[in-house]
Amino acid sequence: MLEVAGVTKTFGGLTAVEDVSFSIGSGELVGLIGPNGAGKTTLFNTVTGVLRADSGTVSFQGTDITNEKPSTINQQGIARTFQIVRTFDESTVLENVTTGAVFGASGRRSTAEGRDVARKYISFVGLDGKEDAEASELTIADRKHVELARALACEPDLLMLDELGSGLTPTEIDDLCETIERVRSELNVSVFWIEHIMEAIMDHTDRILVLNEGELIADGAPSEIQQNEAVSRAYLGGVEV
Ligand SMILES: Nc1ncnc2c1ncn2[C@@H]1O[C@H](COP(=O)(O)OP(=O)(O)OP(=O)(O)O)[C@@H](O)[C@H]1O
Ligand SMILES: [Mg+2]
Repeated sequence: MLEVAGVTKTFGGLTAVEDVSFSIGSGELVGLIGPNGAGKTTLFNTVTGVLRADSGTVSFQGTDITNEKPSTINQQGIARTFQIVRTFDESTVLENVTTGAVFGASGRRSTAEGRDVARKYISFVGLDGKEDAEASELTIADRKHVELARALACEPDLLMLDELGSGLTPTEIDDLCETIERVRSELNVSVFWIEHIMEAIMDHTDRILVLNEGELIADGAPSEIQQNEAVSRAYLGGVEV
């Protein structure tokens, strides 16, 4: 479904992502971990067209999407959330999620159609009854669910989540993990998920990719990653996880 081949992204003298290759299959739930500054968000940004790759290719469902515009990539069927939540705080939950539904993967919809689609995903993420609340009035957990609902309202084939669980309580993280599993099982959407919360990632993914200093150092089942020496060394390198 997603094929990343030899992608490199530099910022001046810093190589944030170095010659990274991997693939994600249809129906997979794949985690992406690595110490702070490992290049995880930069990799997401190059895949989704927010940043231009210096070299390498990204293809999605057989189409070359390397360095296409974010809106084009979104229409090809990839939706994402951002590490720093990007809700429109002056707008209501329904308005926020409707933007995803109107501009999403299924082509342009009218606002009225978009609202119906938005209501479905607001309910899916458990925000029933909060349609008319302004995003600024919500807790951080609820705003993260708004982001998730907005991405789902694009009706993507692949959902990419950048640290959706950070700042949440353990109970909120459990709820979020359950929702992410339902995204795959009930909506048939593949998931690529950056998270620092190890238990969540280990317990709720099929496969984990590990980045360290821009390089992909491991790609395997959670049980393999837990026993991988290179991964332990990367996390013991003194960088806070
Ligand atoms: N726009 C930018 N300009 C310059 N350097 C950047 C930019 N974005 C990221 N970097 C640098 O690239 C490296 C990788 O950053 P990135 O944000 O991708 O890491 P990350 O793995 O997402 O970290 P975290 O877990 O803290 O979110 C870091 O050294 C960071 O300072
Ligand atoms: Mg990041």
